[in-house]
Parts: sequence; structure tokens; C-alpha cells
Amino acid sequence: MPRLAIHGGNPVRTIHFPSWPIHDEQEVQALTEVCQSGKWWRGAYSQSELGAEATTGRSRVEEFEKAFASHHGTRYAVGTSNGSGALDIALKSIGVGPGDEVIVPPYTFVATATSVLHCNAVPVFTDIDTDTYNLDPRRVEDAITEHTRAIVPVHFGGILADMEGINTIAKKYNLKVVEDAAHAHGVEGPDGKKAGSYGDIGMFSFQQSKNMTAGEGGAIITSDRKLYELCYSYHHYGREEGHPWYEIHRLGWNARMLEFQAAVLLVQLQRLDEQNARRAENARYLTENLQKIKGIEPVRIDFERGKPSIHLFIFKYDKKYFDGLPRDLFLKALHAEGIPATGGYTYPIYNNPAFLQKHFYPYQCPIQCSHNTIDRDYASFQEKCPVTEKACKEEAVWLTQNMFLGDHEDMDDIVEGILKIAENKKEFKEYPHRP
Ligand SMILES: Cc1ncc(COP(=O)(O)O)c(C=O)c1O
Repeated sequence: MPRLAIHGGNPVRTIHFPSWPIHDEQEVQALTEVCQSGKWWRGAYSQSELGAEATTGRSRVEEFEKAFASHHGTRYAVGTSNGSGALDIALKSIGVGPGDEVIVPPYTFVATATSVLHCNAVPVFTDIDTDTYNLDPRRVEDAITEHTRAIVPVHFGGILADMEGINTIAKKYNLKVVEDAAHAHGVEGPDGKKAGSYGDIGMFSFQQSKNMTAGEGGAIITSDRKLYELCYSYHHYGREEGHPWYEIHRLGWNARMLEFQAAVLLVQLQRLDEQNARRAENARYLTENLQKIKGIEPVRIDFERGKPSIHLFIFKYDKKYFDGLPRDLFLKALHAEGIPATGGYTYPIYNNPAFLQKHFYPYQCPIQCSHNTIDRDYASFQEKCPVTEKACKEEAVWLTQNMFLGDHEDMDDIVEGILKIAENKKEFKEYPHRP
């Protein structure tokens, strides 16, 4: 039996997985064109707004908005400087404000919940489904109060959330749905619709780790003209099209996407479907093989019905089948074999010090705000969200999207690395960190 690399043996893999981001001459040329044009922000093309100072030509941001909306089957898109800004603005556009509660999953990047706080409203966490790690609609219904205004499902890791279940509840209680599709560019449901187009409004992130990227960036999509106009205005300092430049109609932000970002994203969008298809095929093959290993259970993805993006490939690790080896040690051993896996989030969002201590706005707003009648104790969610607790503490293992851009041989290495640990689990008996 070959010795584990963590104990001095040879690793399964010594070459890197495909690196990310991927670019070629097209990005370089697109960036050079913007650079040389001297028009680095979209305002340079807004003749109606800037009058004499504006110049003619095509704004890459506008072009990208049209292409991205069309790719996702919506009528409108607004490009933003990042995904967090897109979320803040999307929530603001549906009217979230003081006194409101918004239901979010606790197993997601913190921005899903802090965007609610930025609207001076209260995030309420409901647990994820143990099979999919996406928001569980059955639990959403239990968390609804008279203050609930919206639900924010996250298509976690690029796997479509149960949008039928969530939209049914939203309709029943007259709630808005904002899809956090930060991981889900081009993800398609069984009915052919795209992530971000199921709810009232959806948002995406183009931060460097995402399946299409400009380093930073974001987008909002919707088919509702009113919401689009509000989002456009909020991201443009509260301005309105057709009105004087220095006339401000609402409290907005400067969250505009740069021409540089759009130029890169227009190229990245062209590669998205082909890259996602490759990721999905490798993920399907890996799932098939991991399912044969006791104690390893990939999160459920229905590869036959729809198209996932595999922003993250997640499997559940059960130490019971690894002689009690804790996940962190399993991860260290896997790393040593040349397979870079992580355990993901350190803890559920509500366990972050900012939440436990309600360190949000001054005077304990929005939790102890006169508009808010329910004083939320975020520690109380620990009991209500056992699936998330387990995922963070001991179970989840993440592999990132770039690892799926190669071929089946890369997947075979992942399987071999895990099998090697399973076969050598007794070797850890003397390991100093063993509990
Ligand atoms: C689920 C989720 N939502 C929102 C965001 C925020 O996006 P950004 O980093 O572009 O601000 C992220 C970023 O990682 C995310 O993972």
C-alpha cells in the first residue's frame, strides 16, 4: 500500500489543476481598445446626460448589459462595480427597508445577509437542504412573520435552488424573490429558464473566483421595467435618465461598472457555456466515481435535468467511515496528495462576531430599531440550522470550478487521492492531532 504523502510518501498528483482566470489575446485587445479610446466609464457615452462633453461610440457596459440579459432570458440588466453592490441595490429596488425581515440561507457568503442589513432591515436565517445545500423551502415557510418582505435564495455552488418551491411560498405570502446567483452564471433549470430569471430580480458577481470574471464586477437582471429603472438610478447616484445631470431623485450609490470590466466580461461571456458544459461533464464523472466511496457523498446535482455551473463542487465527508479522522486532517492529507480541497465557510453567517454581537449600525440598528418589533438573537439560529452547523463544522468539502476545466484524468486523481486516504486511515493512529 503506497504511503500517504502527508507521512512522507509520494503524492498522487504533482501537476497543478487548470489555473483561473483564463484569458487570451481577446481580453488584451478589448482592454487596449478601451484604454486607447479615452472613454473609461459609461458616462462618456451618455450624450443625453452629459450634453456637449459626451462623445459618440459604443459603451461596452451597455453592450454587456444587453448581451448578459439576453443570455439569461430577461429584458434588462444593470452592470455594477461588484456583486455586493448589485445585491444591495436589488433589495433596495424591491422596497426593503426598516422594519422588514428578509429570509436568507446561513450557508452562503456573508454579503447575502449584510445586503439586508445595509437596507436597515433584518436578515432571518433558515436552514439549507441536506441533499443540495440550498435553501430548504419547507423551512422558509416556518420563518415567515408579518414583517417578512422577501426571500433571497442562493444558487449555491452553481446548483439551482428549488425555485418552484420558493416561488410558491412567495406567492402565497405576497413576498418578493431576489435570486443571489453570484455563483450561477448561465445555470439552466429543467424548464430551460436561467438562474436569476425565476424571481423578481437576480444578481451575479464577477469577482475573480467566479465562472466569468473581470477581477471584480456585478450585474442585476430583471424583466420588470420599474425595477430596472430603480436599479439603474440607485447605481448611478439616484440620477434618472432624461433629467439634468445634477438632479438627484433618491439616495443612491456610485456602483457603476467600468468600461474595462465590461470589455473583459464581453469576452468571458462568449466562453461561459462551453466552460460550464466542461465543468458539468467532469463533475458528473466525479460524482459517479465518488459515490462508490463509503463516507463520501457528493451534494445532489440533477445532471440530466438542467445545466449547473459547478462554481463549487461539494461533497459531504463522514469521518465515521475514515476511522474517526477529522475533516481538517482529511483535508491536510488530501492537500499533500496534490488535491487542493477546502472545508469552506468557517461557520454559519449568524455565528460571525458581528452577528452575535449585533455590530451593525450605530445604536444597534436595525435590530433594536423602533421599526423592528422582534429582537433577534443570532445565537438562537444555531439550534434552528443543524444542517448548516454540520456542513461548516465537520462535513462539507469544496473543490473549486477551475479544477473541472481539465479532463477525466484530473477527476481520477481526486478519486485516487481520497481512496488512498481511505485505505491508509489506520496510518493516522499515531498522528499527534488525532482526537
Ligand atoms: C453567494 C454570494 N453572494 C454575493 C457575493 C458578493 O459578490 P462580490 O464579491 O462580487 O461583491 C458573493 C461573492 O463571493 C457570493 O459568493
